[in-house]
Amino acid sequence: MKLHTFLTTYLTINFASCNTIDSGNDYDFIIVGAGSAGSVIASRLSENLIWKILLLEAGDEGNLISSIPTAVSLLPFTKYNWGHFMEVQPNLAQSYNDNRMPWHKGRGLGGTSLINYMIYTRGNRFNYDQWAAQGNPGWSYADVLPYFIKSENCSVKNADYAFHGVDGYLGISEPFQTKITDVFLKGLHELGLPFIDYNSNKTLGASPIQANIFQGRRHTSADAFLKPVKHRFNLHIKTRAFARKVLIDEKTKHAFGVEYEVSGKIFKAMARKEVILSAGVINSPQLLMLSGIGPKQELGQLGISVLKDLQVGRNLQDNLAFLGLNFVTPEDVTLRFSKFVNLVSIYEVFESRTGPWVGAGGAQAIAYIKTDESEELGPVPDMELLLIGGSLSTDYGLILRTGMNIRDDVYNSLFAPTEGKNSFMIFLSHLTPKSKGYIKLRSADPHDYPLMYGNYFTDPGNKDINTFLAAVRYVQKLIQTETFKKFKITLIDNPVPGCTHHQYDSDDYWRCFLRSLIQTFNHQVGTAKMGPKNDPDAVVNHKLEVYGVKGLRVADCSVIPFALSAHTNAPAMMVGEKAADIIKNAWKDNLW
Ligand SMILES: Cc1cc2nc3c(=O)[nH]c(=O)nc-3n(C[C@H](O)[C@H](O)[C@H](O)COP(=O)(O)OP(=O)(O)OC[C@H]3O[C@@H](n4cnc5c(N)ncnc54)[C@H](O)[C@@H]3O)c2cc1C
Ligand SMILES: *[C@@H]1O[C@H](CO)[C@@H](O)[C@H](O)[C@H]1NC(C)=O
Ligand SMILES: *[C@@H]1O[C@H](CO)[C@@H](O)[C@H](O)[C@H]1NC(C)=O
Repeated sequence: MKLHTFLTTYLTINFASCNTIDSGNDYDFIIVGAGSAGSVIASRLSENLIWKILLLEAGDEGNLISSIPTAVSLLPFTKYNWGHFMEVQPNLAQSYNDNRMPWHKGRGLGGTSLINYMIYTRGNRFNYDQWAAQGNPGWSYADVLPYFIKSENCSVKNADYAFHGVDGYLGISEPFQTKITDVFLKGLHELGLPFIDYNSNKTLGASPIQANIFQGRRHTSADAFLKPVKHRFNLHIKTRAFARKVLIDEKTKHAFGVEYEVSGKIFKAMARKEVILSAGVINSPQLLMLSGIGPKQELGQLGISVLKDLQVGRNLQDNLAFLGLNFVTPEDVTLRFSKFVNLVSIYEVFESRTGPWVGAGGAQAIAYIKTDESEELGPVPDMELLLIGGSLSTDYGLILRTGMNIRDDVYNSLFAPTEGKNSFMIFLSHLTPKSKGYIKLRSADPHDYPLMYGNYFTDPGNKDINTFLAAVRYVQKLIQTETFKKFKITLIDNPVPGCTHHQYDSDDYWRCFLRSLIQTFNHQVGTAKMGPKNDPDAVVNHKLEVYGVKGLRVADCSVIPFALSAHTNAPAMMVGEKAADIIKNAWKDNLW
């Protein structure tokens, strides 16, 4: 049996039948997509029992494998991943087979929180204050912090509880750690970086990972927000229901329903009040465009009649990650294959729900730093260092690097040397990118994936790549700290194939390496940008309403106006919490 077939047919945990009685096709609200944001919105809107809510989700519920945190590396191969690839970009991603960089996106209850690495970060106060300052009242740090806190049931020991909630649906806890975390934090401390709670209002510093893991299991937004309320008779959750377009009255420009598909059959559902698109950063803009909302010329060329000319799909921004820093130490302080693939560990994850299988896919700590490339005056970080307790070689190159599509020769040079050894990695992730990509329709067929262009490292002035270079230099200083020296930590310095014509360790060598092994952190945002009316790129306003169309909102990562200094799951859930309040408020005098 193929790995893929095995995983997709393996035991389904009893999420219980979410589909309650089907009572006609009329709803008050229809939400498309049960992802990080959509699950929250469905949960919160259905608190009002007089509203009838339909939640459409293209995928299925999760299973046993997806619920085991460290099994995350298997998930790209399953039906829970849409399987997108970015279009090939010249002089980029040469370390990937056919230069193709995967853009994983989750499909199923929980959306991308069903396949992600469970790292819980919010983004810093500067992000939100800038978001508001761009003409979006209600989105400043002070405005959004209560929504992060509302969602959360935090049990992290050293957290700063002025910034955390304990009554919310979403479990936040500390994942499994190896000793390398202490080494990392101490080394950084030598360089002057303080220990902080990275989800507080402190913006430069390091802490162990906080993860959306609850009682030893992945806590997707669906597990957290839908499972406890699935009995509500007014909440109708349809899985395997693929939305094809929003139904909009051409004369009044009023959204009145959604056309969707189940097992090849087409259905219509009507929305008395609103349609809310939470289909994610690729599919929400795709649905808008299929419904006639988007760049006029592009839609016209595909024979789609244009209802509203807007810059849908543009302004795509992302946090890139560099995977090229692989370390080895003689000390037994990292994850090794034999440490988690053994009977004791497997017993632990099922019995006490602890041990190495309860990890955030190996992520153990985060440091927010400000590199020498930064021109900011204040404590604004521009790079994240993400400590991974193992390496791409920990599984002997079987699974992780296959999911990432990394070429054999690249793996053999950079990672194979640490197979069976104590190895770990420091991923670099750029927090303040300037480059912008876009997505556009491939065709008018809703089943055709849109074309996706990252346009990475294309900013004039090369600030993006030079910030990575500065972070590499920072890590080289970290290797020189007493702490790192004590553990005899060395960087694997085999040259990456394709860059051997540069002198090793020269700036040009690193720039070549960075271009080659750069990867998306899957934090794309901005394809249905929030902005004021006078912003030519704006698709929705600060109330998430699509410009020029009534009864239609977008609420997911697509509306986030620029790349945040964060992994984007918590921000998506925050958007969901806030969207629900905006909607409740809009209808409070008109409940029926
Ligand atoms: C491999 C990976 C690792 C990541 N790791 C982290 C991490 O550790 N921490 C973190 O914070 N973030 C992480 N992210 C990013 C984060 O998970 C996402 O940004 C976030 O979940 C996006 O939320 P969303 O609500 O915008 O969309 P999604 O959660 O993607 O939800 C969209 C939903 O809509 C459904 N849908 C789409 N089209 C249709 C349609 N036509 N009809 C019906 N349903 C449809 C989809 O199936 C999906 O369920 C990771 C992402 C990936 C891919
Ligand atoms: C919060 O988490 C704790 C365990 O960490 C659990 O006992 C409690 O029931 C949870 N609260 C909610 C509201 O889910
Ligand atoms: C950070 O939060 C603390 C505690 O709430 C507060 O006293 C402090 O003023 C805040 N700092 C900034 C810069 O907002």
